[in-house]
Amino acid sequence: MINVLLIGNGAREHAIAEAVMKSKHRLRLFSFMKANNPGIASISEKIFIGSYSDLKAVSAFAKGTSVDFAIVGPEDPLNSGVVDALKEMGIPAVGPTKSLARLETSKSFTRNLLRKYDIPGNPKFKIFTGMKGIKEFLSELDGIVVKPDGLTGGKGVMVQGDHFQTDEEALAYCEQVLAEHQSVTIDERLEGEEFSLQCLCDGKTVVATPPVQDHKRRFVGDKGPNTGGMGSYSCEDHSLPFMDKKDVAEGLAITQKVAEAIYKETGEYYKGVMYGGFIITRSGIKLLEYNARFGDPEAMNIFPILKTDFVDVCKAIIEGTLDRINIEFEKKATVCKYVVPLGYGLPKDHPHAQSTSARIEVGDVGSARLYYASVDKREDGLYMSTSRAIGVVGIADSLYKAEQIAEKAASQIKGPVDHRPDIGTEPLIEKRIRHMQQVRR
Ligand code: GLY
Repeated sequence: MINVLLIGNGAREHAIAEAVMKSKHRLRLFSFMKANNPGIASISEKIFIGSYSDLKAVSAFAKGTSVDFAIVGPEDPLNSGVVDALKEMGIPAVGPTKSLARLETSKSFTRNLLRKYDIPGNPKFKIFTGMKGIKEFLSELDGIVVKPDGLTGGKGVMVQGDHFQTDEEALAYCEQVLAEHQSVTIDERLEGEEFSLQCLCDGKTVVATPPVQDHKRRFVGDKGPNTGGMGSYSCEDHSLPFMDKKDVAEGLAITQKVAEAIYKETGEYYKGVMYGGFIITRSGIKLLEYNARFGDPEAMNIFPILKTDFVDVCKAIIEGTLDRINIEFEKKATVCKYVVPLGYGLPKDHPHAQSTSARIEVGDVGSARLYYASVDKREDGLYMSTSRAIGVVGIADSLYKAEQIAEKAASQIKGPVDHRPDIGTEPLIEKRIRHMQQVRR
């Protein structure tokens, strides 16, 4: 019997939990969650609700349930040192230690690593610990991206042209960042199409999963504020409609070099997920950022089509034997749409901003997969919180068929909710292809 500890309570972790439970091994799932996810709870042997920064509580739960290994879903427990605490107890994890999670938590660590080890993918950038020199650097670039050092819950990265316009505004934001963070990284703004490449790593071998494109903007047509992600898609050929085949290979090659560099730099093998946010530009692939975990929603695109036993994958990551297993995915397209409270991601003064914590009804979602995120199951039904509520995933032989399945399922979730009906549809995909052609020209 294998006892698996899962840490996390989102739709990403619901998809991970489902993949674990599909394993051929005899196992029990124990889940440590910040809030009760009814999907995860329903397939767990035992759950514990606690804080991800409460290392004592995590350790006690792991000890009490005699877990063999842990899978860490979100970035917060990685940043609070959960993997290190488990390691001290002799419990290995799929997820990096706090130091190696700097790949995500410190933008300057990652930029410097690529520069030091001569790894391609960095845009023009500079790291500042004070305001000196920032104004001069801004004048060298056409547009900038300001990135605070440290976790900001996806809210800290600000792009010129989107979140602010003038250099004066950029300087004011840098000043604000430096008051709260040790340093600020300024990247040149890049033009192109983005993709997420979630790679598995045992410290030496890196394996790419199919590329996915996320949709960060809240509204149809990529309008409105940035969110954690409103939905995502992947294609049956394990490429994306605007990509060249070599793009995935380049993203993987960069990630492989980064894994090697991490070992040289720290003497420690990176075990877990290296999720590269890449952008295809006129001058090739550039790295926007790494995350030290699976993407949310992107995990929901890859887990339902994973053919290989995920517990075997986890064991290979832990034991350093990823080179010995063949990780396969079904040749299927997937479309994930997040159903969110109407007020999700909106400024406080927006008329819909308060429409959260309401009850929702889930109708017939057909063949779509359903993954719970921020919902609370009470006696009288399901209630949303302020965050993304439910992810629905359509899976089919083609993208547009998968989209129809996901769209129908999303429309079956009733209440004061919203989703993006355009994700995975032909007009939006065509727009991405035209944009990429224009950039490449
Ligand atoms: N899809 C964005 C993220 O997981 O950070």
